[in-house]
Amino acid sequence: MENIMSYKTVDLDDANSALLILNQSKLPNEIEVLSLTEQEEIHKAIYLLQVRGAPAIGVAAAIGVYLAAKRIEDDSYSVFYEKFKAAKNYLASARPTAVNLFWALDRMETVVKNYPNLPVSKIRDLLHKEAIKIREEDIWVCRTIGEYGLSLIKDGDGILTHCNAGQLATAKYGTALAPIHVGREKGYNFKLFVDETRPLLQGARLTAFELYENGVDTTLICDNMASQVMKNGWIDAVFVGCDRVAANGDVCNKIGTSGVAIMAKHYNIPFYVCAPTSTIDMNTEIGTKIHIEERPPEEISEMWYKEPMSPKGVKIYNPAFDITENNLITAIITEYGIVQPPYEEILKNLFKNHKT
Ligand code: MRU
Repeated sequence: MENIMSYKTVDLDDANSALLILNQSKLPNEIEVLSLTEQEEIHKAIYLLQVRGAPAIGVAAAIGVYLAAKRIEDDSYSVFYEKFKAAKNYLASARPTAVNLFWALDRMETVVKNYPNLPVSKIRDLLHKEAIKIREEDIWVCRTIGEYGLSLIKDGDGILTHCNAGQLATAKYGTALAPIHVGREKGYNFKLFVDETRPLLQGARLTAFELYENGVDTTLICDNMASQVMKNGWIDAVFVGCDRVAANGDVCNKIGTSGVAIMAKHYNIPFYVCAPTSTIDMNTEIGTKIHIEERPPEEISEMWYKEPMSPKGVKIYNPAFDITENNLITAIITEYGIVQPPYEEILKNLFKNHKT
């Protein structure tokens, strides 16, 4: 088996009009690359977390909507645009929380909107370019976040992370794991503590795999052991990714993240959130306004077990994400620098200076 880092998480196979994804629902036991040509397959891949992690979902959606555009045969701009919008809305309905999905699809729509006078064939070429650009940019963004994150830690540090915000969640490097991967390239050695991340086990199946395969000193723990490893003095910093950051710096990330932040504050451990600006939603004022996805109860009661592990019919609540209030966050690391409180003001300036 080749090292997992040599696989592309998400890519375009233009010759075969297919979206290629490394099927994350099969990891770590099987490495399977899926070649998806149908919109229903792409929608399902996002919903079932075969491709997952906010940036990777965005890239998959951009490629997906380009593939949809390739199939629209009408030569009239208005018919093309109408069908494009239907395809966009369909992919946007796959998952509600990670803003990168909508951000990437909006970027693709802007291409269509900006060129009403071009022949549809030329618009398709521009959509192709934009989808590739979104993927390529993600590599630069993650690498840069890695460099900034690395400046906050030192060789030998103990780092705790939750869920998977690694290469498997992006085009390359990851966000929360980018400082670790970039640090490794430079000869740093960190001790990683990985929350297993119930109920879908992104920590155990993906993060532990990605790090361990890459030679990082990796210790897997159950989610309820984080307090103990912090108390033991083994954690110098927490790094997590995010699915959406509100304009006031509240962060929405994998369920359990807010608990980790509360514990980090208790033990006086810095809590860093790695956030590409594509994940920052300046149109959402505060975290409580973010739509949190609720997923099927079977993910808690049955998945991973040989037989159901709870009484049949018991009520189950399965939110996929939670909100970490901005006062628990030491810094938000973006590709344009490290943002510290007051978040509302600094994020506004960051967008003013870097996004037009
Ligand atoms: O449900 P998932 O696995 O898509 O959730 C992923 C996360 O919560 C990640 O931490 C987040 O998307 C950041 S990935 C760089």
